[in-house]
Amino acid sequence: MRPIRFATVAVAAAALSLPLVPGVATAEPSADQQAAPHSNARFDRLRWAAPEGFVVGTAVAGGGHHLSQDYPDPFTHDKEYRKILARQFSSVSAENQMKWDYIHPEKDRYDFGQADAIVEFAERNGQVVRGHTLLWHSQNPEWVEKGDFSKDELRAILHDHIKTVVGRYAGRIQQWDVANEIFDEQGNLRTTDNIWIRELGPGIVADAFRWTHEADPDALLFFNDYNVESINAKSNAYYALTQDLLEQGVPVHGFSVQAHLSTRYGFPGDLEDNLRRFDALGLETAVTELDVRMDLPESGVPTPEMEQKQADYYQRALQACLAVDGCNSFTIWGFTDKYSWVPVTFEGEGFANVMTDDFVRKPAFYALRDTLKEARKG
Ligand code: G3I
Repeated sequence: MRPIRFATVAVAAAALSLPLVPGVATAEPSADQQAAPHSNARFDRLRWAAPEGFVVGTAVAGGGHHLSQDYPDPFTHDKEYRKILARQFSSVSAENQMKWDYIHPEKDRYDFGQADAIVEFAERNGQVVRGHTLLWHSQNPEWVEKGDFSKDELRAILHDHIKTVVGRYAGRIQQWDVANEIFDEQGNLRTTDNIWIRELGPGIVADAFRWTHEADPDALLFFNDYNVESINAKSNAYYALTQDLLEQGVPVHGFSVQAHLSTRYGFPGDLEDNLRRFDALGLETAVTELDVRMDLPESGVPTPEMEQKQADYYQRALQACLAVDGCNSFTIWGFTDKYSWVPVTFEGEGFANVMTDDFVRKPAFYALRDTLKEARKG
């Protein structure tokens, strides 16, 4: 297993005069500190509460559904948001800004503006970066989907994209979601809606991993998907495929579960067992997109019981990851409801994040913080 790169974390921590091994000799937060949307207390931050070597991440809001909302780009314009992003997290993921439609909008034009800004922000703040994503059925620009390219041309387009994007950030991205959501719920490869697999055959998945590894030999390369938290047909398909690719010597390093959960359904209680079986193959594992949505009551305000149930889901997901050796990266899909994709996508559902619209911390935030603190002690 390869160690996580913490060089950048160490450098930035030193620059900020922050301890790399956090949380020595601290007192419990006062009521004022608890109520504050953020606080200067180190122990009150998720990133410093975490055990050494364990990164706590968030998606960086921008692109995608944000483009159709009546607020300016959150990452660029919301100062309070940026402050919390820097203080609370040790890992950041591009929510949309490294996806094809965003970063490669025209055949001969890449747009690296936002992705560069995220990587630079991360470096200034001692954070690692998760790159998302390179081979996916969704958010491909029209010029790709409707380009009527020959197989050779399409293959060259994907290769060039991976070489260019991954190469640009080589040595600066800790983990890449190389292949995202390539199986359907039954565990069949997406051979119709995934243009790469449809046109180029299943072998293109291995090539994508090889090309990514060539462009950045230091990055850890992941399969990433939703509804794979449990042992089920879809996660079984990943289990079989990763075994097969590892036997062939393909540079696959990790399997990650997105974990878009809902209190409408039970918590996936076999998450830890599922992560363990991938760990036993020698793979890293990660939780990459956790949020826990709920059906909102008419008042729009969840009851304390609903908040507690949500906090339990967050806590159990974190506990499952902490319990598995090679699960060193735990990311929530945004930290504030203000910018969540959930209400835009699921009518009547929301309140999925650990802070409210106004950045007030919910029980879910404290559940994560306290669980991290416990794990650090243990
Ligand atoms: O494609 C249409 C475009 O044709 C139209 O003009 C535009 C109008 O607003 O909408 C475009 O689609 C949007 C898409 O992003 C592309 O920009 C969708 O409405 C919008 O909902 C979508 O949002 C993003 C979504 O991925 C796309 O799948 C979200 O911001 C982002 O949070 C979400 O993140 C995904 C992860 O990447 C993978 N796992 C699931 C997770 C949640 O869906």
